[in-house]
Amino acid sequence: MTIQSIAELPIEGRRVFIRVDFNVPLTPARGVADDTRIRESLPTIRHALERGARVVLGSHLGRPKGKADPKESLEPVGARLAELIGREVVLADEPAGDGARKVVSDLREGQIALLENLRFHPGEEANDDGFARALASYCDVYVNDAFGTAHRAHASTVGMVTHVKARGAGLLMLRELQMLGRLLGEVEHPFVAVVGGAKVSDKIGVLENLLARVDAFVIGGAMANTFVKARGGDVGASRVEEDKLPLARAFLKKAEQAGKEVLLPRDAVAALGLDAPTGQVVGADAVPAGLMALDIGPESARGFADRLARARTIVWNGPMGVFEKVPFSQGTFAIAKAVADSGAFSVVGGGDSVAAVQQAGLAAGITHLSTGGGASLELLEGKRLPGVQALEV
Ligand code: 3PG
Repeated sequence: MTIQSIAELPIEGRRVFIRVDFNVPLTPARGVADDTRIRESLPTIRHALERGARVVLGSHLGRPKGKADPKESLEPVGARLAELIGREVVLADEPAGDGARKVVSDLREGQIALLENLRFHPGEEANDDGFARALASYCDVYVNDAFGTAHRAHASTVGMVTHVKARGAGLLMLRELQMLGRLLGEVEHPFVAVVGGAKVSDKIGVLENLLARVDAFVIGGAMANTFVKARGGDVGASRVEEDKLPLARAFLKKAEQAGKEVLLPRDAVAALGLDAPTGQVVGADAVPAGLMALDIGPESARGFADRLARARTIVWNGPMGVFEKVPFSQGTFAIAKAVADSGAFSVVGGGDSVAAVQQAGLAAGITHLSTGGGASLELLEGKRLPGVQALEV
């Protein structure tokens, strides 16, 4: 089974549907707050336009649950795309129907149409065949560049694909698969996985799948509290998943038996709550009653950075603390710097870790910043992504 690249598909003069992931954060005034995902799809869109394709773009935005909601219109996204690409982007006011059909049939070579939010139609998430066929009728060639949505089996990522003769992957999709795929194949050692974020339950699949591949795990974020408690530490009022303590204990035992290092925070920045103006440095396994650990402490940051400096391959997903709050952001920024300084082959996934790298101006030091949150996690869990499988010929 192979997946064709858009570069191999017969797109000249054809109507090409490109499934993009323009699910981007918006500002309260409905501007695009972070246009990374739009920028990352530009090479694929430009590739098609330069070959005289008539480009039909489809994306979801948010979770409108099958109903049109002006707050989740793709209108600001289309405007941002037009600015970035320097061409008009015609927005159809619905994802499918007479209006959408007209916009698509009026397209000339080298022009771009953007369908309205695909999730305004209930058929998108239900992978309804009628909706899939309607989308398929708008194109001759199907290209999926929406890596961030490849873990969803929806009409635009799976259902419509078999109704279109020629299909393949966009340039962003191919790069994501290549970079993340490299982590699951032959890698240079030491290989260190840095895993953070709120919940053990979100990341346990990744920890388990990487256990046989990595040399060491570095664990931070609120999920580290559950591990620290599982080792017998006192985490005060920190967030803990009590029901995941047995899972955490079992994982620590497996890692020990397999001879893998698991680095947990030794110290933490703790406070009464998220809105505290400052935190105090305490032992991660001796958090005073009433206080919550909200970031890794400076000693942990140094220890983690030392481990990362010796790594040849690094994957990082999930922040070390509540990094959107200044007093609890230092641990995450320290890890971003350590990964960027390491010189290792490095892949960073998940919105918060990627945002930390970008805010710190360290993107140039990272081999690959993934546009996928859930999709990159599922891939690292060893799952096959339905949106990728659908492209195989
Ligand atoms: C994402 O942002 O992770 C993707 O766009 C998928 O969005 P979803 O979780 O709403 O399916």
